[in-house]
Amino acid sequence: MKKTIEDVNVQGKKVLVRVDFNVPMDKETGTKITDENRILGALPTIKYLVDHKAAVILCSHMGKPHNVFNDTLKLNKKEKAKIEALPAEEQAAATEAALEKAKKDVKKLSLAPVAARLSELLGQEVIMAKDVIGPDAQAKAAALQPGQVMLLENLRFHAEEEKNDPAFAKALASYAEIYVNDAFGTAHRAHASTAGVADYLPAVSGFLIEKELKFMGGALENPQRPFVAILGGAKVSSKIGVIENLIDKVDALIIGGGMAYTFAKAMGGNVGNSLLEEDKLDLARETMEKAKAKGIKFLLPIDTVAADNFSNDANTQVVPIGAIPEGWEGMDIGPETEKLFAETIKNAKTVVWNGPMGVFEFPNFAKGTIAVAQALADADCISIVGGGDSAAAVTQLGFADKISHISTGGGASMEFLEGKTLPGVAALNDK
Ligand code: 3PG
Repeated sequence: MKKTIEDVNVQGKKVLVRVDFNVPMDKETGTKITDENRILGALPTIKYLVDHKAAVILCSHMGKPHNVFNDTLKLNKKEKAKIEALPAEEQAAATEAALEKAKKDVKKLSLAPVAARLSELLGQEVIMAKDVIGPDAQAKAAALQPGQVMLLENLRFHAEEEKNDPAFAKALASYAEIYVNDAFGTAHRAHASTAGVADYLPAVSGFLIEKELKFMGGALENPQRPFVAILGGAKVSSKIGVIENLIDKVDALIIGGGMAYTFAKAMGGNVGNSLLEEDKLDLARETMEKAKAKGIKFLLPIDTVAADNFSNDANTQVVPIGAIPEGWEGMDIGPETEKLFAETIKNAKTVVWNGPMGVFEFPNFAKGTIAVAQALADADCISIVGGGDSAAAVTQLGFADKISHISTGGGASMEFLEGKTLPGVAALNDK
């Protein structure tokens, strides 16, 4: 068990809190937050610290900036090489244009819009630092009073963050007396702010990491049974780690999405033009045999909505999954499969879901994913939805309050379900 903020005295202390404010922003201006769930997820920890009179120094990354080094705008190696390949007389103008574009791109990765939204949510000012370990952040952190909140600029404006550079971690640690990690979404990264900084300060988890570990860890270690996992998404290769870990723990494994066609083909079916990983057919067969040997239910779709091209407006027909005509491709689970999956979900006591059932981004092929979300919302069970598309689906459909836990982690929740140790959790102090 890891220590949490409730295990340390934060009163009057400066507390550095790593949060995951890597929220999606509208592509055009980069100033409007399109999904604020990660900000909402961090609120309980921030409010607790404010209420307990800590001075709260928040830090996060946003996106993957590749043009700011030590808070200075520079062209990266790839862009420089491109410009150097141009005729000499064109290089100055190309450099200027590239820097101008980089400036705009980087502005879109500033955390300032998040500070503004967080101020509204907290009902108090969130002081935005202009830099990370520069003079502005240093002065603002030094002047910060108990009960006040500040946010450092995007940590990845320093290449040292992702390199887990000890000097950078030490500079971050120098702001505070206690370090709190509440960035579950980034806990699978061993970066300076998620792992390195714990070498210099007492390190505890916030409420979000605690909750994520309680729900997902609880399901993996001691689930109420029957325990059902629903895995979707395009590729067997990206989910095989999760399948292999869960196959030892679940009572039933439901497979949907693009990867189902590789399993259907491995069983000898015709899958037409559907997504197929030829090199994973043996693995698919072995996985099904393993499930059989363990006596767990392994449910594949029985029917599929096939389309004559990959578009929302394609012609469609519902066919058995192993009888997709030549030239057609499976785009969603069919109505019989919806019923089969819903029945299994209804009888479950714990369900973990990760990955859509079909091409969810096309409204005409979102029905299967919606049906699974609905079944999960109706079920009387502990329901856990892994991050990414399935979390977005449940939230967009308005089912969020009927789900026990929606993870704020995409890659992090996948790695957790694969049974891997998350460096951002491992770095924290044990109870
Ligand atoms: C995420 O969005 O999954 C996290 O914020 C981690 O971001 P990263 O994949 O850029 O490290």
